[in-house]
Amino acid sequence: MRIYVLDNYEEISMKAASILASQIILKPDSVLGLATGSTPLGMYRELVKMHKKGILDFSQVITFNLDEYVGIPPEHPQSYHYYMYNNFFNHLNMKKENINIPPGDEKSVHKVCEDYEQKLRSVSRIDLQVTGIGTNGHVGFNEPDQELNVNTHLIDLKEETIEANSRFFSSPEEVPRQAISMGMGSIMKAKKIIMLANGPNKAKPIEEVVNGKISTQLPASLVQLHPDVTLILDGEAAKYI
Ligand code: GLP
Repeated sequence: MRIYVLDNYEEISMKAASILASQIILKPDSVLGLATGSTPLGMYRELVKMHKKGILDFSQVITFNLDEYVGIPPEHPQSYHYYMYNNFFNHLNMKKENINIPPGDEKSVHKVCEDYEQKLRSVSRIDLQVTGIGTNGHVGFNEPDQELNVNTHLIDLKEETIEANSRFFSSPEEVPRQAISMGMGSIMKAKKIIMLANGPNKAKPIEEVVNGKISTQLPASLVQLHPDVTLILDGEAAKYI
């Protein structure tokens, strides 16, 4: 496991954007696994800047997002569809058919999960997976539990996740109770993983990821088994390691 401890959020964003940029320059048809949440926002901003300067071409890039809430439409400002288009895809030259985000407003969730899994299999492996980490150690929406799902699945969000994510909604009652998430299997199959974390709320789960045991009760701890993982942290998130 490679660990970068950087001075601030801007440096985390630059480092992550530089890794993605190198990936795309070296392999223009890269398959990227993408995350949402507040942490990768700066990274997306930097990548958009590089694209606007003509340094990065996204015309052959394929993306798979980790997750989406169930029960809110794609045009809802807190949906991950809205987040991704607004903060990233709308500013790039990506082909629409190369963008994959699990649909969260569908009736037949089971079918949606199967179709997403099918699409993931068609690319065989993600070249570079970006993840954040939840305060309870979740990755995407793979929540702590006695068992974890390998494949794309429907998940009931934990109370602590609903509470953590309620900062983006006007009240905790508005936060969806369920989500569709890529399974830990596809995440762990990625050739490379970068995990970003900043701020004091991430210090405990990051300590577990670096020094703790591997446990389904802290899904992010599974990355210890991966051969090519890079943690990109600020001093606060790294304070216990
Ligand atoms: C959400 C997302 C995760 C993300 C996590 C942390 O629950 N499903 O992919 O890593 O939040 O978010 P933040 O970066 O805002 O702390």
